[in-house]
Amino acid sequence: MLSLKKPNPRDWLVSQNKYQSKKTSLKAKTISVTAGKGGVGKTSVAVKMAKILANTGYKVLLLDCDTNLSNTVVKLGLPINNYFYELISAQRDFDDCLHKDGNLHLLSGCNGSIDLFNRNLEVDRIIIDILVNHERDYDYIILDCPAGITKETLTLNAYSDYRFVIVTPDKSSVTDSYSLIKILNKEFGVNDNHLLINKISSEPQYQRMVKTLSETVETFLKCRLHILGGITNVEAPVDQFDTLLLKQENSSLHKNFVKIVKKFTEEIEGAALSTDSEFVPKFTTRSEHDVRFTV
Ligand SMILES: Nc1ncnc2c1ncn2[C@@H]1O[C@H](COP(=O)(O)OP(=O)(O)OP(=O)(O)O)[C@@H](O)[C@H]1O
Ligand SMILES: [Mg+2]
Repeated sequence: MLSLKKPNPRDWLVSQNKYQSKKTSLKAKTISVTAGKGGVGKTSVAVKMAKILANTGYKVLLLDCDTNLSNTVVKLGLPINNYFYELISAQRDFDDCLHKDGNLHLLSGCNGSIDLFNRNLEVDRIIIDILVNHERDYDYIILDCPAGITKETLTLNAYSDYRFVIVTPDKSSVTDSYSLIKILNKEFGVNDNHLLINKISSEPQYQRMVKTLSETVETFLKCRLHILGGITNVEAPVDQFDTLLLKQENSSLHKNFVKIVKKFTEEIEGAALSTDSEFVPKFTTRSEHDVRFTV
């Protein structure tokens, strides 16, 4: 008798041999910028990183996975478009859907498309198909993920080579990021993630958060957090943040991002050269720190 039970996403990924197939250097390195919590800076980080990597000489595809609330175009000051819907309805070729700026290619999502809203799409499968078809054309593919911990988003996170979990000092953000990391671990077997702390107000606050999250994730989930660094909370009017983020290359914000991107690329290039494919995480020992929030 046929079973009607749907396979879980990890089984599906493994059965498609896609989960393991990401290991060769011929393919783009895929990075999910994710969080659980909304408004923590996922799109800001994804866009800024994509631009820095492209300016460094890497060929980058920025893929907006917030498919009907696309903010990448808005941040970049580009006209909104319906290309994602046109692509999946076979009305437009992939290449015609891209916004191209030198090494940086953007596939944006739609913005409140009624057509897209009314289609019952498996967005994760659509995006994984895009990745499979185009991962040989890029050095990096960055997925700007939507808020929330839907199965679709977590499947994309699990499929990615790297996950940048964006956390702010807000307690809800810390709790939500832990929930994301927990489900990724329990349901998909993901046991390492990168952590970027955004909107920090002071160095001690940053250090406290790193210790707390690292200790908690290690203690309760036996998972590793690779610390990318922190981004200061910019005290600028909200409507000026994008200009500061993307246009002012002399700002300390820009330098802050460049440092983080450089650290990451050096780490993964070092790891690729090493005989051991996993780079060694920098953990604080458990005896040095208290876990400061319960989970
Ligand atoms: N370091 C920062 N300092 C000050 N404001 C910031 C910083 N990072 C992001 N912001 C602001 O936070 C808000 C949310 O940013 P962004 O859209 O990047 O978050 P998001 O996580 O992608 O949100 P969503 O969940 O809606 O997709 C924006 O107003 C942005 O300008
Ligand atoms: Mg966003």
